[in-house]
Amino acid sequence: MKHLLKLLDLTKEEILSILSLAQELKAKQKAGEPHRLLEGKTLGMIFQKSSTRTRVSFEVGMYQLGGSALFLSNRDLQIGRGEPVEDTARVLSRYLDGIMIRTFAQEEVETLARVGSIPIINGLTDFCHPCQVLADLLTILEHKGHLEGLKLAFIGDGNNMANSLIVGCLKVGMRVAIACPEHYEPDPRALELAAQYPGMFTLTRSPLEAAQGADVVYTDVWASMGQESEQKEREKAFKGYQVNAALMQVTNEGCMVQHCLPAHRGEEITAEVFEAHAGEIFDEAENRLHAQKAVLVKCLG
Ligand code: CP
Ligand code: NVA
Repeated sequence: MKHLLKLLDLTKEEILSILSLAQELKAKQKAGEPHRLLEGKTLGMIFQKSSTRTRVSFEVGMYQLGGSALFLSNRDLQIGRGEPVEDTARVLSRYLDGIMIRTFAQEEVETLARVGSIPIINGLTDFCHPCQVLADLLTILEHKGHLEGLKLAFIGDGNNMANSLIVGCLKVGMRVAIACPEHYEPDPRALELAAQYPGMFTLTRSPLEAAQGADVVYTDVWASMGQESEQKEREKAFKGYQVNAALMQVTNEGCMVQHCLPAHRGEEITAEVFEAHAGEIFDEAENRLHAQKAVLVKCLG
């Protein structure tokens, strides 16, 4: 695997192989066995948006793999003063072994990959969040023992998380139901992929309909990074698109709850449901580390 730009680029086999390597590396780390597969390698991490999990898990992951990571904030890089991404890519390709980037436009990530000569990993764009969904699939696999045939219901904004969940879950054989208000539908590229999986995908306005018979309920913030000024209007639009006790009642027994975090209690999820499923949600956060170590080994190894 050269890059991880979006899950649309990966086959089912590639996704499963990342999950299996992640499990292997996780077991090694838990057993205290060295796994310095990226000895001497350096990852540059460009952040044009905030991050807690992505930044720390990539940095720690590189360290555990025997390499190192550089945190490159938009505020400090010349990109922030208008240096073209094309030039930045060609310069950084001379110093680094790989780049993880979190930014706004998916096109910027694709450009980096096209122009640079080193592996590029997408750490979130407005379009998708592939690393998060790999961690989510790993968590679901650990808790349920399998992925094929499970139903995931996503309640809320048809955002980067919804887009990546549609693609990742359908590719591994899960069913997906999205409940979102009008005008907040997932990206057409994700819906186009979904159209290739007849009978496995539903898009509805009704959170209860989506959650019916779900094995995993997933939600994310109503206003993503970059949409802060829309907070008030989104609070109105998403009223009712909440993961709460009533919604959980229509799901399958043993239904998991996943949230990429950060969570806004009282908006997309109640404090009650969040705390009842905190174990699964923080396993999911931990699995960012293990899933990304697998991605790093596949891309930079
Ligand atoms: N879920 C996630 O990507 O978290 P951060 O924004 O903290 O990196
Ligand atoms: N949809 C959220 C995900 C954060 C991990 C955002 O883009 O801000």
